[in-house]
Amino acid sequence: MAKNKDTGRDTVYAKQNEMLVDFVFDDNVAHVFPDMIRRSVPGYDAIIPLLGVFAERYARQDSNIYDLGCSLGAATLAMRRRITQSGCRIIAIDNSESMVAQCLSHIEADQSPVPVEIMCDDILDIKIENASIVVINFTLQFIKPELRENLLNNIYAGLNEDGVLLIADKIVFDNVQEGNFQIDMHTQFKRANGYSELEIAQKRTALENILVPDTIEQHKQRLNRVGFKEVNIWFQCFNFAGICAIKS
Ligand SMILES: C[S@@+](CC[C@H](N)C(=O)[O-])C[C@H]1O[C@@H](n2cnc3c(N)ncnc32)[C@H](O)[C@@H]1O
Repeated sequence: MAKNKDTGRDTVYAKQNEMLVDFVFDDNVAHVFPDMIRRSVPGYDAIIPLLGVFAERYARQDSNIYDLGCSLGAATLAMRRRITQSGCRIIAIDNSESMVAQCLSHIEADQSPVPVEIMCDDILDIKIENASIVVINFTLQFIKPELRENLLNNIYAGLNEDGVLLIADKIVFDNVQEGNFQIDMHTQFKRANGYSELEIAQKRTALENILVPDTIEQHKQRLNRVGFKEVNIWFQCFNFAGICAIKS
């Protein structure tokens, strides 16, 4: 895989690769991740600061705020900078050592007072406790579909009353025409951001088996099954959506 660590520009799939393997969040990806996610995920630049607005609204005194699949800590930082309640602690978790190593230095460089604990762990193995906010930003889509409900059950159990779960994920559509339209516009977004047809095709192949999107209806029904009565779609840009589920 090609890489461009000096500029931070994502060139991971720029060269023809005859031996494409499944996408992994390794060192090559971690070094270009901010550029990669901005140029690949429509709405990412809007969602991140808005997570700070959610944090301001829903963080409760003396509670935990979780960032599951934190990568380099973008969501953690956005929330950390806007939390005004006392006694809050952010717990940021990722199972990629490369991501966690860089996340640590990003968090250390930030001066905000809210304590952050960064863990290199599988989000399927951790216990959520005393949570006012759980963020899972573009990460549920990487969890095996058959394990997603169990993860959401654990999150629901660890959320306090009035706690919120914020999911952002790629989505698919039951309506074929709508699905094709959203995929076409997502592809156009990547072209507009400088990705070549080769890069787009190779990354699509690498992600095929590991990024499995749900429909909005699947998300809603699963969230209802685990106990969330209020589920709001708060963001959509092409085939990416933000969901806020509130425990009441
Ligand atoms: C698309 S990135 C998330 C982006 C990040 N939340 C943000 O907003 O910038 C997905 C992240 O989830 C992590 N991940 C995937 N499966 C995981 C698991 N089972 N446990 C912990 N982290 C996981 C990956 O290592 C990767 O860093």
